[in-house]
Amino acid sequence: MNYSPGENFGPGEEVPPLPPEYLVRRPRRTRSHPALRRLVRENTLTRDDLILPLFVVEGSNVYQEVSSMQGVYRESLDRLAETAKRAEQLGVPALILFGVPPRDQKDAEGRISWAPDGIVQRALEVVERSAPSLLRIVDLCFCEYTDHGHCGVLTPDGHLDNDATLPNLELQAISLADAGAQVIAPSGMLDGGVAAIRNALDEVGHAEVSILAYAVKYASGFYGPFRDAADSAPAFGDRSTYQMDPANAEEALREARMDIEQGADILMVKPALPYLDILQRLKRTFDVPLAAYQVSGEYAMIKAAGQKGWIDEERVMLESLLSIKRAGANMILTYYAREVAKLLR
Ligand code: PBG
Repeated sequence: MNYSPGENFGPGEEVPPLPPEYLVRRPRRTRSHPALRRLVRENTLTRDDLILPLFVVEGSNVYQEVSSMQGVYRESLDRLAETAKRAEQLGVPALILFGVPPRDQKDAEGRISWAPDGIVQRALEVVERSAPSLLRIVDLCFCEYTDHGHCGVLTPDGHLDNDATLPNLELQAISLADAGAQVIAPSGMLDGGVAAIRNALDEVGHAEVSILAYAVKYASGFYGPFRDAADSAPAFGDRSTYQMDPANAEEALREARMDIEQGADILMVKPALPYLDILQRLKRTFDVPLAAYQVSGEYAMIKAAGQKGWIDEERVMLESLLSIKRAGANMILTYYAREVAKLLR
């Protein structure tokens, strides 16, 4: 007899019996007991996966919540020591620091980003002193430091000048490494950026400093809340001439390959949840460690819906992060790092 499950049977009509071979394999059996579910579980989220982003500002006793990212703060260096210690105690392995200089320190080139007493340079010292076992990662970019908010210097007609920006990337990288950064994460998506930084670091004796390349960074609407937090929205135009088109996947593989060739130690995909396919393709194609950034907009959506009572925030937080692991990430940058570390302790 042919069994076709799509067939409709009218009321009172007899439904043919299910052939027994359909029930020989019952996937529900391995889901039937909590301990058995643990044993067959393929992926896990642990504290070892977490990187906590922090925003540092000038001033004293500043601890200012970002309105579009509740639970995320911009904090001055005197508060940072406590924050870093707490993250260390919770078992978070690493921080990534974002500097937010005052407007009057910004210029067309973003020179304050490589000053030895710049905000991130001093923050690195604070973290090293207060929480020495935390890995110190820094975001290397110019959008927070330039008065126009683009990720480098501009041509006279207002476009990002790739090659003129490369020497500035080198200056910022060396300055951050000198100040104690252990991993440098260039996020500007400039051509040749990773090679320039690797070369500069090696030349001045920082061969031990790793590069976590934002290899695949999409021009995304999910960065909105971050730009409030970091005061880094472009004054005109957008970032679509340097960040990737959300429609492209093959291009992500080219970007990734080129960053590996240029010396990247770890590659990042960003944002995370809307780009799990990209993460998975990188995982299958390359053999380097992968990071994924659960960005500000992803965080804000979960937060907001949770506060409305429309979703269970904790459950969705863990589920999203686990999905990112399952897709292939070895590590995740997430504003939820502390909450997760607390839960998984
Ligand atoms: C650029 C940078 C951005 C983010 C991290 N690094 C913003 C951008 O490219 O506009 C976004 C992170 C987030 O949204 O959480 N320095």
